[in-house]
Amino acid sequence: MLSDFITLRQLTILPFFMKHYNTRDIAKMDKIFRLNLINSCTGYKSANLLATRSSTGKTNVAVFNSVMHLGSNPPLLGFILRPATIPRNTFKNIKETGVFTVNHIHQDMIEQAHQTAAKYEEHISEFHKTGLEEEYLDDFFAPYVKQSSIKLGCRYLNEYHIIENDTVLVVAEIKHIYFEEGIQMPDGWLRLDDAGTVAINGLDGYALPTLLDRFHYARPGIEIKSFFKEEKTKK
Ligand SMILES: Cc1cc2nc3c(=O)[nH]c(=O)nc-3n(C[C@H](O)[C@H](O)[C@H](O)COP(=O)(O)O)c2cc1C
Repeated sequence: MLSDFITLRQLTILPFFMKHYNTRDIAKMDKIFRLNLINSCTGYKSANLLATRSSTGKTNVAVFNSVMHLGSNPPLLGFILRPATIPRNTFKNIKETGVFTVNHIHQDMIEQAHQTAAKYEEHISEFHKTGLEEEYLDDFFAPYVKQSSIKLGCRYLNEYHIIENDTVLVVAEIKHIYFEEGIQMPDGWLRLDDAGTVAINGLDGYALPTLLDRFHYARPGIEIKSFFKEEKTKK
């Protein structure tokens, strides 16, 4: 019998009460159930709009949750492209022109951003269908999204076929960075919560993360030091 001293709350955090799925369970799952589970179990993902323009001038903008940092010197990012079972306009435009932009999704534009995932025909621009506006900066060929307050101009470098699921990792160089000046700290770091940048939970959940703390570089045997507590004691 369980001790009377164990509270319900303590019970809920005991590992043997955790739900568990194994490979066999996952294989047997309904397609949509599995998609929702596997898309959300790896954590919050970045929320970006990739914007492009074809060589004939047709613009395109689409939501991507796979944009990731690859390295800072050279400044590289990557994103995952789904299998080419249907036309992929973003990728087609990137291959034609070599450039695209990455635009943060903010809390006041999540409906418009989500709508860009709809399968519009190639000649229809999601910019015209969603109310997101094109913006051209410093002669860069690809459009930026005007409503985004953090945006990157990128140049395609390479692609790597992921044979396990027929997706493609696209690697690109960050050529331009634009953001509202107030969100940058003196050491370069961008405070994303000040910009209202959202994160994606799975494939259809948009979240607004709360910044809890920021820490100095971790070293073995040295106590972890908070930036924010340091700031408070200086005041
Ligand atoms: C939240 C969300 C995230 C997505 N992330 C990706 C992604 O990382 N890679 C991808 O290929 N498609 C992704 N998609 C699907 C594209 O947005 C969708 O296929 C879009 O129509 C692509 O447009 P395009 O054909 O104009 O490139 C995502 C869709 C949603 C709703």
